[in-house]
Order: sequence, then structure tokens, then C-alpha cells
Amino acid sequence: MCGIVAYIGKKEAFPIVLKGLKRLEYRGYDSAGVALLSAGELSVYKRAGKVSNLEDFATQHNISGHAGIGHTRWATHGLPNDTNAHPHVSMDGSIALIHNGIIENYDSLRKELISEGYVFKSETDTEVLVHLVDNISKKENVWFGEALRIALHHVVGAYAIVAISKNYPNRLVAARKSSPLVLGIGTDGDFYLASDATPIVEYTKQVVYMEDEEIAVIDLEEGLKLYNIGDQQKTPYIQQLELELEALEKGGYEHFMLKEIYEQPRSILDCFRGRLNTDEGWVSLRGIREYEDKMIQANRLIIVACGTSWHAGLVGEYLIEDLARINVEVEYASEFRYRNPIIHENDVVIAISQSGETADTLAALELAKSKGATILGICNVVGSSISRITDAGSYTHAGPEIGVASTKAFTGQVTILTLLALTLAHKKGTITTSVLHTMLAELEAIPNKVKRVLETNAHIEKIANTYKDATNALYLGRGSSFPVALEGALKLKEISYIHAEGYPAAEMKHGPIALIDENMPIFVIATQGNSYEKVVSNIQEVKARKGKIIAIVTEGDVHVRELADEVIEIPETNEYLVPLLATVPFQLLSYHIAVMRGCNVDQPRNLAKSVTVE
Ligand code: F6R
Repeated sequence: MCGIVAYIGKKEAFPIVLKGLKRLEYRGYDSAGVALLSAGELSVYKRAGKVSNLEDFATQHNISGHAGIGHTRWATHGLPNDTNAHPHVSMDGSIALIHNGIIENYDSLRKELISEGYVFKSETDTEVLVHLVDNISKKENVWFGEALRIALHHVVGAYAIVAISKNYPNRLVAARKSSPLVLGIGTDGDFYLASDATPIVEYTKQVVYMEDEEIAVIDLEEGLKLYNIGDQQKTPYIQQLELELEALEKGGYEHFMLKEIYEQPRSILDCFRGRLNTDEGWVSLRGIREYEDKMIQANRLIIVACGTSWHAGLVGEYLIEDLARINVEVEYASEFRYRNPIIHENDVVIAISQSGETADTLAALELAKSKGATILGICNVVGSSISRITDAGSYTHAGPEIGVASTKAFTGQVTILTLLALTLAHKKGTITTSVLHTMLAELEAIPNKVKRVLETNAHIEKIANTYKDATNALYLGRGSSFPVALEGALKLKEISYIHAEGYPAAEMKHGPIALIDENMPIFVIATQGNSYEKVVSNIQEVKARKGKIIAIVTEGDVHVRELADEVIEIPETNEYLVPLLATVPFQLLSYHIAVMRGCNVDQPRNLAKSVTVE
């Protein structure tokens, strides 16, 4: 939530910062702003709305500077207007600061500063930081970087901060705690900072992922120095980025979301590549291999996640319990962390997170760790906070997901959970080698089957056109298709703003059935398998109330076709793998409906991709 980017060096800072903000816009798009240092002057430009508003405004001015900081905001404290946009500036105009996170004790700090004569312009929690730094710097007669270090001892909350001062034109200072910050070391003696590596990769692949309570002081003459907030110097751990620039472009697609939906044959393949061998009959997630016995012997596996990742967790619960006969609980990270959960040392807590930065998921892991549980992660973003605090983990290797609505990350997470379930089941002996062979062969066939689902896009677009004006929708599924129904409903509501609910198909008659009338589309996963007949009965119940049925069926199905208003066929597959195929038509359907309704598909209102506040 909120994206920050900064540059200092020999190049013009503004184009670099602006481009970086566009890359980080998925993190929030309520306002954007920059502060630039040039010839000892500090200039600030900020605008409500998207980065393009800032660009239009700023390009009317003669902007230049060798150092700049920029921010794209997802509003927490205060309306999304020009005044509340970052950067925030000290009263004498010398220091500018950007921040991602939340200062929890901002109210008491603000009152103290007001009593000392500070005048606040904005309603943000961030403005206290810049006045606090200014206050400490003046009272203790220290430079602004040292003042920031001291200030952080008074701050409660989460932050990634970058500050500049016109009195120190060759310096940038950055700090982080619980909000991500990556530092790029340029080839020209220049430096970059950003909330993730996407604004940096174009210029350098040498990066340092800042750790909690670290402060980076960048000086154009002295280079980079890293400290902890206790002022002890640390050695920066420089890593090589594996991200490729092309992965950040739309590649000819109209939207990132569509591109990411179409990438799934490749992203699923990348996810299981090297992790299974059907001929030799083995499956292994190397990253967590040494924890396999621990998981098999665990009291229970607790999956913590939010949103789409939580839905993937539910699919995982079905797979692991059914195949490996290990007790699994799936928890909303935000609930888990605050309800004093009972956690034992022989519990294994697995966090699922695309971004690896979700504040609630991170906090749930920290809680579990403090109680002695083993903590593992399934993340997409390499080097993210969750991937760094966990004992071990597996990456989904889906590549950057830029559309705010999660698509390929979900199928990547389900793929990892399938591999995990098979690994544990085979090791524990709850499935035979022959079942393992069959499942692995089926999994290997999934990328091509996803391709075939994508070929039904034109048909799905037509269905979207029929139902684009609906005001409500119901999604139904049973077994591991229930989480797919939840995910289908979430995709529709978040990008098209149509109210939608996902339900276990049999639960419909305990309430939601009252909503059904001739205008209500009901999307049902009715593929061949154990509960097929039961789902058919649920479809009959809907038809009796004149609801419109759009069913996802197995290729060649005739029975449901007779009952449904529309069917979308997916190739036959093992029942355990249906979620990997059945999710895709729902992604396309939501995408087309959102486009037809004129919604901003990649950046839906009020949302941000990386939810780094609780
Ligand atoms: C929905 C969506 C969100 C995320 C949720 C968790 O399309 O993207 O519901 O799934 O915010 O995010 P991660 O997976 O980054 O922890």
C-alpha cells in the first residue's frame, strides 16, 4: 500500500522517479507527488488522483534535479487530495519525506509537536514524521539523517521512509520497519530506492533488500552506509535481481490482467518445472524438503492468508487432508493474529501470499513464530518480507503480477499446494506410487488444458455481454470447487463492482436461495466427479426459481447442458486438479464484464495490490 521511489545520481531524477511511480501504481492510486533537489532548491509537486495527473501537472513546469523522491498513495489517514499527498515538507521547507505504512502513535506525536508550535497542513500520519525530524534536528543540532534515526525511537508503527534535505543535497536517507524497501546500486555511482524492485530493474540488478529497523545513508561522495537504529554500522548484503524488464510490460495485451490470465499455461509450468518427474515417480519442493517430516508429524498445518491467497489455502486444505490425511486449518491472517490462537511447537504455519508483504499475514507468522511454531511461506515475489522471515518456503515463480486482481498467482499457489499434498502423501504412504504417477501425469497436462480453456474466450465474452448488467451474482461449487466459487465471486466484485457471493452449492438453500429470481445469474462448477449428481440437484433447485444458470462442465457433458442457460466446457482432468482449470473461465468472465462496464480493470477503485497496512 503506497509506493515509494527515489533516485540520487548524475541523471535527471524526475523521469526515473515518474516511471518508477507508474510501475508502483498498483500499490495505490489516490494521489502522487515528487520532491526534487536542484541547485540547493527543493521543489515539491503533488496531485490527487493517478500518477498521470502528476505527470500532466509537473510537465508544465521546468522540472529538474539530480535527486528526487516520489510517492503514490493509498489513503489511510485523510482524504485523497493534493494536500494529503506525499511528499510532506518541514515548515522551513528544507526537508521532504515520503512514507509507506502507518504511524500508530501519530496523534500523540502530533499534539506534542503542535504544543511546540508546529503547524500541520495535512490530515496524514506521515506529516508528524517530517516535523519530528525537523524538531529533533534543531533541538539536538544534528543533521536530518541522524534526526530521523532518533525520531524512529519515538515512532510506533510500520514504515518505509525516504527523506531528502536541501541542506544536504548529496544525500538521501531511508529507513524501514514492516514496510518493504529495496535499494538499487547503480553502475554510475548512483542509487535507487523503491517499494519493490520493479522501478529499479531497468537501471541495475544489484540490490539490497533493507531489513527491519535499518537506516540507509546514501552520499554521492561516500557511497552507501547501512546502520541499525541503534547506530551500529552494518554490511549491506548485495543480491542479484532475477527480474526481467519485459515481464513488467503489457506485451501487446490491453490490460495486465488479461496478459496475466493468458500467461497461466506458462506460469503453471514454471511453477512445477524441476519439482516433479513423472517417469521416475518423484515430486519435491526443494525449499521445504527438510521440513517434510515435520509437516507429516505436525499436530496440524495452519494456513494463514488473505483474499485470493486464502482461497488457494482452502483448495490446499482439501488436497492435503484428502491425499495426505494431515489435519489442516485455514485461517484469515487478520483474524488469527488477534484472537489469541492456540499454537503449539509442533504446529506448522504456512503463509500464502503473492506479494509476500501483506501486513496481516506477516503479523500472523510473527505471532506463530513467537509461540515456537515452524513457519513456512508460499510467495510469488522473490525477496519479499514473508519469504525472508519464514524458516523455509517455495516460490510460485509466476512472474510479476501487476493487475491488482490476482490471477496467475492463484493458480501458482494451487499448483504448489498440489505438489505439497502429493509430496506429503507419497512420503507418508497415504497414496500409492501408481496414484502418484497418474496425478503427476495429469498435472503435467494442465498447462495445455489451460490453453484449451483460454480458447473458449470468445464464447465467455458473449456470456459476459449477456450478464454484464446484473446487479448480483451467485457462485456455487462443492468440495475443492467451493473455493473456486469464492474466487470467482471475488474476481467479479473487485473489478466490475457487481455484488457477488460464493457459496458451497448445498448451502444455497439455507439462505441465498431467497435472492434467486429470473434476473440472477448463478455460476456453478458442475464438472464430473464425486459430487456431480449433487450439484445437478442444486442446479434443479435454481431452475425451479427461474435463476439463470451458467455452468462450468467437463467437455462432452450433456446432462447439465440440458438444464443450464449457458455452459463453458473445460477439459477432463483429475478431480483434484479441477480448480486449476475451472478458475480460468471465471477470471475471463470478470475481466470482460469489467471492460464492458467501463471499469478500470488493472486498478479497481479503492484497492491496492500490496496491502501493507492492517
Ligand atoms: C484479490 C487479491 C487480494 C489478495 C490479498 C492478499 O484479487 O488480489 O485479495 O489476494 O490482498 O494478497 P497477497 O497474496 O499479496 O498476500
